[in-house]
Amino acid sequence: LNIQGIIAKRRDKQPHTQEELQYLAHGAADGSIEDYHLSAWLMAAYLHPLEEQETAWLTQAMATSGERLDLSGLPKPWVDKHSTGGVGDKASIVLLPLLASCGLTVVKMSGKGLGITGGTVDKLSSVPGFRLDLTPQEMRDQAQRIGIALTGQTPNLAPADKVLYALRDATTTVGSIPLIVSSILSKKIAGGAEMIVLDVKAGSGAFMKTALKAKELAAALKRTAELCGLQARLAITDMSQPLGRAVGNALEVAEAIEVLEGRGAGRFQQLCMRLCGLTLMAAGAVASEKEGEDLALSKLESGAALRKAKEWFAAQGAAWPTETLPSAPVQKKVFHQGTAGWAWVVDAQTVGEVVVELGGGRREKDDEIDLAVGVEVHVEVGTQVEHSQLLFTVHAADEAHADAAAQRLVEAVEIVTEPVRKPGLVLEVM
Ligand code: URA
Repeated sequence: LNIQGIIAKRRDKQPHTQEELQYLAHGAADGSIEDYHLSAWLMAAYLHPLEEQETAWLTQAMATSGERLDLSGLPKPWVDKHSTGGVGDKASIVLLPLLASCGLTVVKMSGKGLGITGGTVDKLSSVPGFRLDLTPQEMRDQAQRIGIALTGQTPNLAPADKVLYALRDATTTVGSIPLIVSSILSKKIAGGAEMIVLDVKAGSGAFMKTALKAKELAAALKRTAELCGLQARLAITDMSQPLGRAVGNALEVAEAIEVLEGRGAGRFQQLCMRLCGLTLMAAGAVASEKEGEDLALSKLESGAALRKAKEWFAAQGAAWPTETLPSAPVQKKVFHQGTAGWAWVVDAQTVGEVVVELGGGRREKDDEIDLAVGVEVHVEVGTQVEHSQLLFTVHAADEAHADAAAQRLVEAVEIVTEPVRKPGLVLEVM
């Protein structure tokens, strides 16, 4: 095998063998293949997308390119939950204790956020003391003991993905569906997963801007997971407006806590219940999604989910953060200045970009972020809006940032004079 031959095959739309993809992934991980060769192959693979079987082979090769977490022997059933990323998506912080209180074991490795989509690792790092560096042994022990373990990615997990992702970014080839699929699933397989629940986000605040593209990604994820022997349940969910009220790391933790403490409402809580129902169903713990949702709601109402969340935070070194989350020094309210009407657009992408500009998200992967800043969204698509109604609260490090954010946020909302239907939340389940 040689890399020029592999590049030429892709260039000429000839199918790859499993050995070729293994050579490529392992050569990316150990540095034996040069970046310029990998970049050329990536562009060829972008122009001539991998077929299903090739995608599964690449996924498996990337998954075995570094360390793997062995989670055999954990109490079953156990699951991994993953979102493709959105604006205000803090669902994992609710779902992990909720699912564990319903009897599942949940093990998860989370990434940092990049661009407008946040990462669970950043959100939880706003909780003083919360450890995100559990060793594989600690993960196993904690999952065994309390049914939940979450950690940041270990540096040597699917190292081929780290190399290929950085080159995809540099060569504008990130958007290829087979490359996205192998990137996501290789990390899940290396993390020891056998069953995953994937929330594929669709809309301006997501990677996939339309429901059609999200569906294409979801179908490819499902098929590749099956070919790799990974059980997968997928939901395609709306990300055209921010999820819930809070966008920004510490603000989002506070909103997740509201739900766990029984003070939640609206679309964010609804999504948590739906995802919990379909996960319980997929894991065989209940007979229907409805039964799963009812079980989740009963655990929320009885306080069992909250007790589990407190146990989880304590196990990872953190006190329950009632008054210890960081808060930003400047808060600025943004009111609706136009005529009354109905909210037609509350653009997730604009809100996400504002949070990045406030310092709450990364432009480059090694950027420092401010965990306290963010935006609270007080308006939802389909609701009536009066003149002077509160639309947003900006949480900023200083007045200048707050003013700039307030100006930009006005563009995120479109109010029309005719009533607007509330959009769907879960667009499809597969
Ligand atoms: N998330 C990943 O982990 N990889 C991608 O390529 C896209 C989203």
